[in-house]
Amino acid sequence: MEDGKWIVGKVGDEFEEFISPIVADYPPERILVEGKVFIFDTTLRDGEQSLPTSLSVEQKVRIARQLAKLEVDVIEAGFPVSSPADFEAVREIGRIEGPVICGLARTVEKDIVACSKALKDAKRSRIHTFIGTSAIHAEKKLRKSEEEILNMAKSCVKLARKYCGDVEFSPEDAGRTGLDFLCRIVETAIDAGASTINIPDTVGYTLPEGFVEIIDTLFNRVPNIDKAVISVHCHNDLGMATANSLTAVRHGARQIECAVNGLGERAGNAALEEVVMAIKVRRDFMKVRTGVNTREIMRTSRLVRDICGVPVQPNKAIVGSNAFAHSSGIHQDGMLKAKKTYEIISPRLVGLKEHRMNLTSRSGGHMVKSRLLSLGYSEAEIDMESFYERFIELADKKGTVYDDDLIVLMEAQSAGDLEDIYVLEYLNVSTGTNTVPTATARISAAGETYEEAAVGDGAVDAATKAIDRIVGYDISVQDYHLDAITQGREALGRVKIVAEADGSLFTGSGASTDIVEASAMAYMDIVNKITRMRRFGRTSNGRKKKVRRRKSK
Ligand code: KIV
Ligand code: ZN
Repeated sequence: MEDGKWIVGKVGDEFEEFISPIVADYPPERILVEGKVFIFDTTLRDGEQSLPTSLSVEQKVRIARQLAKLEVDVIEAGFPVSSPADFEAVREIGRIEGPVICGLARTVEKDIVACSKALKDAKRSRIHTFIGTSAIHAEKKLRKSEEEILNMAKSCVKLARKYCGDVEFSPEDAGRTGLDFLCRIVETAIDAGASTINIPDTVGYTLPEGFVEIIDTLFNRVPNIDKAVISVHCHNDLGMATANSLTAVRHGARQIECAVNGLGERAGNAALEEVVMAIKVRRDFMKVRTGVNTREIMRTSRLVRDICGVPVQPNKAIVGSNAFAHSSGIHQDGMLKAKKTYEIISPRLVGLKEHRMNLTSRSGGHMVKSRLLSLGYSEAEIDMESFYERFIELADKKGTVYDDDLIVLMEAQSAGDLEDIYVLEYLNVSTGTNTVPTATARISAAGETYEEAAVGDGAVDAATKAIDRIVGYDISVQDYHLDAITQGREALGRVKIVAEADGSLFTGSGASTDIVEASAMAYMDIVNKITRMRRFGRTSNGRKKKVRRRKSK
């Protein structure tokens, strides 16, 4: 470094002076004082390499744009030498403004050249180069001595620095690398020009106390350690990725490598949403901050889930569908009295509107009544004693009771009001490769039978369109969720659909060994709920509303 500037080269031979983006903004001593932790997102590299099928360039760019909105510091966009598509993705993502865009390279010349070419036009770029350093990687995978590995690291960091002012070096499998060799290679990489040293627990083997022993040793024994940002990259094989990352930050690490929804090799990487929210919520203890815009977390998680096709477990910290839902009667009662009794994170902080109270047979009368009041019913309209009995009966049958179910329970004057008005009598769907999916549905209502056919983008789309033609409602599906509730090829599938109609949201569910039939049943559930609400003159969120009826065919 000369006078705070890095001397670097462009691809080709002309060299120019270039201020290393992150290190220029935050020299290591400033990072420690200001307590900024860089968030290095590897969803598109470590996360993507774990998916059964690769993402297209366009899909990666969509995710990268959202990561830029999330305001991560670095996006690891891919491994350019690995395929032309990865190269192209890194090149395209490099055009995005905001974060530093990073490409991965082994300590092999052709990798580094490919990486630098892919990053040539990037607004802010980083080359991340790595080599295995543990005895098992050296002997069995690389078949190289420590001296050879050291030399490869040194020459490739130097080469990378010729192309880019911002170079990161990772001793792969650092978690199982002997400390003496780890200290030597880290010192060598910093001397060669690496401004970030990443310590990966590649196989997720370390526990927090063991991991900080590694970090402490580096800080105590590597003489030039203050010339680089120390980063950590933890895998979750023993469920320790978040704990290891945060503990390392407590001991001086200032970059966390992580992935949205915890995607990554095997059990995944540290989940971005977990490390970021832990740092925010426990600022009192962590005493550092990130630059992430946490209100974009939910949107990012859903986009990654939908594009990558990897579902998020309901009880996943921060982004699971249950993460802000309260089910137990005791908890719901506490929440009604003071949110802080059971809520440590306001859902708004991660971009959700509000917490959810799941009404089930465990919910107390207090909670049910409060929901009825919020649905627009007055004290005088609610006969809680008799209502609660009917509520428990329904909850025992259904599990979760939604707002639209509550309204039906309130409004129903007789058992007949609870019966379905439209009944699906028959459904035939034909689909396959190179054919247009077509569905025929027959529905009975009030003693009449109606039949319609429709084509669609897929079997479910065709079936729901045929139903739409019969009932004549304008239904817009917002969310479609399919779960296998039994195992094997004849598994029972449960479909849950959330749809909008008449300005309200409705939830429908259906189960069958045939997923198209399960989908049609869930859709019919919604059709019947809309019909009841129209009869009762209410919207599904309870307000009295005059609805103009469209005539059914
Ligand atoms: O887990 C790992 O060691 C990696 C490196 C490439 C940083 O993903
Ligand atoms: Zn990894």
